[in-house]
Amino acid sequence: MKHKGLATLLGAVGVVGLTWGVGTAVDAHGSHPPSAAEIQFAKETSDLMTNTVVAALVQEIGETTPSNVAQGNQSISLIFNDRNHDMRLVGRLSPLRHNDYPEDRFERDALDDAMSGTPRTSVERVNGQWTYRRSIPLSNFAPQCKMCHSNFAALSSSAWVGALMLRIPIGDD
Ligand code: HEC
Repeated sequence: MKHKGLATLLGAVGVVGLTWGVGTAVDAHGSHPPSAAEIQFAKETSDLMTNTVVAALVQEIGETTPSNVAQGNQSISLIFNDRNHDMRLVGRLSPLRHNDYPEDRFERDALDDAMSGTPRTSVERVNGQWTYRRSIPLSNFAPQCKMCHSNFAALSSSAWVGALMLRIPIGDD
């Protein structure tokens, strides 16, 4: 079944009942906040992007064995290139690399929620650009998680360990 793994992961990470809200960012540049239609477009883009990124993660996790952990680590690091701020993996359990920490207020607040399994979205300005933000909590649900993250080994499979953070620019602004 093509989408079985994805459906399983989406179920496991708890992507249910997602809501979006308009942030309270100040309109410092004098242009208007995005319209409801623009926000809806960005939300739908984020739905597609979530499915694509989760499918890539499910594929990589499915291929991970004790003998290819190093290669898998490198592959995931390249997919989540540190220069890409539009899709990031963020966590709280050490050891963490520099790029694994939340990088702004949305990610800090969203990570707080994610550690109890709660997703979060926001519409806010990032460096002047209106942006749809989304956090998808991740749990330690697959046995392969601890092959690459040995610090997850002592945790239960239902433990929340971090989040996938996505950013979608809205309009041209
Ligand atoms: C093939 C190895 C591999 C597997 C399997 C894997 N990860 Fe990761 N994970 C990585 C790498 C590499 C990074 C760092 C990515 C980067 O460069 O930002 C990472 C980052 C993370 C982060 C953010 C940093 C941290 O350590 O908290 C979380 C949370 C996370 N992974 C959760 C999971 C979960 C949950 C699973 C199982 C469902 C999983 N990972 C499976 C390799 C793996």
